[in-house]
Amino acid sequence: MTRKIALLTAGGDCPGINAVIRAVVKTAANDFGMETIGIEDGFLGLIEKRWRPLTYSDASGIITLGGTILGTSNKANPFRFAKPSVTGEPEFEDVSDVVMRTFESLGASALVAIGGDGTLSIADGLLRKGMPMIGIPKTIDNDVDCTDFTFGFDSAVTTATEAIDKIHTTAQSHHRVMMIEVMGRYVGWLALYSGVAGGGDIILIPEIPFSLDAICDRVLHRSKGGKRFSIVVVSEGARPESGQMVVSRMVKDSTDPVRLGGVADALADQIEQRTRLETRVTVLGHLQRGGTPTSFDRVLATRFGREAAILACEGKFGSMVALRCGDIVTVPLKDAIARLKSVPGDHHVIKTAESVGTSFGV
Ligand code: F6P
Repeated sequence: MTRKIALLTAGGDCPGINAVIRAVVKTAANDFGMETIGIEDGFLGLIEKRWRPLTYSDASGIITLGGTILGTSNKANPFRFAKPSVTGEPEFEDVSDVVMRTFESLGASALVAIGGDGTLSIADGLLRKGMPMIGIPKTIDNDVDCTDFTFGFDSAVTTATEAIDKIHTTAQSHHRVMMIEVMGRYVGWLALYSGVAGGGDIILIPEIPFSLDAICDRVLHRSKGGKRFSIVVVSEGARPESGQMVVSRMVKDSTDPVRLGGVADALADQIEQRTRLETRVTVLGHLQRGGTPTSFDRVLATRFGREAAILACEGKFGSMVALRCGDIVTVPLKDAIARLKSVPGDHHVIKTAESVGTSFGV
């Protein structure tokens, strides 16, 4: 009987997931003669018993494709699964034993989970119950620890940078303050990299709480110096020195129910009132999660997928593949989920941005 491994994609999608799927399926088949089973919609597929074989031909021609051919869900934490309730308020139950049994019935020797911090934490929980898990770090937020980059991040930075470039020209023509709100959740990597790449004048990230005075001073200083426009790149998690992040909605049955958003809108009104300069907002939203992966992400995703397939096929469980100084390495899953990787205050890209005159609103 041909030996099998299983694969799932969970949490928010991003460009490059299909490139990973392709690499896992092809490496397992070419280098080990093993088959791959694809679980549908992340852990939900293990709860609802939905999967399908992923053939070599399924994995062909998908390296450029955004999204995930397997589907995903960020509402299917087996340890805290929301069951339908008559009140409308979710009631949670632990269905991890169901997931363990379903996995056993597949006859697969390993489960590769492609996901961000939420997915990898679930993977670690299942590992402790005896599931042969391997993790691959995926997210546009780049907030998974122990890896220099997650795949998907570079593509989102590229999309955000292209948007900033376009907004730059209209900002210049109309002499406006233009605020671009980017995703990134509780960390500022996406705002930092796209802000630097797009030549942002002010970059606001969660790790450096901002002062409204400092932002307005910088905008007015530029205006008085003849630069009658300003580009402000705002992370959705940015917050004032003495304030909180702005929450746009709560998704009660989600693994992390908090959805951030709205900080740029709140700030724009205040900047306009104080500076008397017209201030407009563009929220990039889910655009940043869509589309074709960049070549960097395609290569990273392929390298991650190959390494994870090797671990799975050789029976080496309990780790996440990671990028360290150009090399693909493995780290214990528990180390990768121990904390979120936030932007250090003395990060070289922050210092670089400051040297070229970018303000962080302080
Ligand atoms: O984690 C990826 C991410 O896109 C975050 O940047 C963002 O805060 C969140 O997911 C949005 O989630 P949803 O698609 O559920 O609104």
